[in-house]
Amino acid sequence: MSKSEFLSIIRDILATEEFQRMKKYRHHVKGNLYDHSVKVAYLCYLHHKKHGMDVDLAEFVRGALLHDYYLYDLHGCGRHRFHWFRHPRRALENAIRHYPGLTMIQRDMIRRHMFPVTLTPPMTREGWLLCFYDKVAAVDDRLRGSRRAARRKKRK
Ligand SMILES: [Fe+2]
Ligand SMILES: [Fe+2]
Repeated sequence: MSKSEFLSIIRDILATEEFQRMKKYRHHVKGNLYDHSVKVAYLCYLHHKKHGMDVDLAEFVRGALLHDYYLYDLHGCGRHRFHWFRHPRRALENAIRHYPGLTMIQRDMIRRHMFPVTLTPPMTREGWLLCFYDKVAAVDDRLRGSRRAARRKKRK
């Protein structure tokens, strides 16, 4: 289990212009979409290393990394209303376009990661795990955001 192994699995995706752009997309109050996606992928990496899984490590981690690959800034783009229902489909379309070798497991992970907000549950174990770790990361993002805001307030 190492950070360098984790990074070697996702380095090529992180280096792309599209993925770098996600640093500018605000996510969960104070965070950005890039950090959130890497966090979710890392939680999946740790799960795979700790529990061992039948699925290939890189397949699982890269699928997790691309789960929010919808490539627009939610804030101020006018898509807000249906974003929570529609962005998994958009993320999947982008991921398929940029990574044509996407497996059925990775497609299921990306497409179903918003369950139960979207009604159809994942069909794979990996999809369920991504659902779980995405929510863990979302809570962590929000807690960090409010802690940061509280510290800033204190300093004033
Ligand atoms: Fe999402
Ligand atoms: Fe997410």
